[in-house]
Amino acid sequence: MTRTTLALFACLLAAAPACNKAGGGGIPEAAKQEAKMIYETRCTTCHGPRGAGDGPGSAALTPKPRNFQDKTWQSGINDGQIETIIKSGGMAVGKSPAMPPNPDLDAKPQVVAALREYIRSLAQ
Ligand code: HEC
Repeated sequence: MTRTTLALFACLLAAAPACNKAGGGGIPEAAKQEAKMIYETRCTTCHGPRGAGDGPGSAALTPKPRNFQDKTWQSGINDGQIETIIKSGGMAVGKSPAMPPNPDLDAKPQVVAALREYIRSLAQ
């Protein structure tokens, strides 16, 4: 067994985040793919393809969908808050009811984590 194979094996056993070269915090690739697909089908309408809050559905909304590129917003919100609003919607956390809940994701914590990570990656 080569050194690399050994290291890879140790990573699999430990499921250590540091072993994930993409820096995904140990989120499985399948969950990331699903999250991307969900973002494109459910979120771009309002938040826009690059998360700027400028999707076609945004024009009619007040307040506007969040601009994920906004660094000040990114640093003022924690990961748990992002995940909660994705699952429970705006109304559940005292924000705009236009931000819809996604109850089907309650059973998919890794996909929610991947969505949160995707949103984080949109910061400019
Ligand atoms: C129908 C339009 C609409 C859709 C679809 C939508 N959102 Fe939103 N979203 C909003 C609005 C409006 C806000 C702003 C709420 C506020 O500031 O009161 C928001 C806010 C957010 C926030 C920020 C919450 C905060 O505390 O600042 C996150 C994160 C978010 N949306 C994620 C998502 C994700 C992920 C999806 C897709 C699964 C999605 N949204 C789909 C309208 C939408």
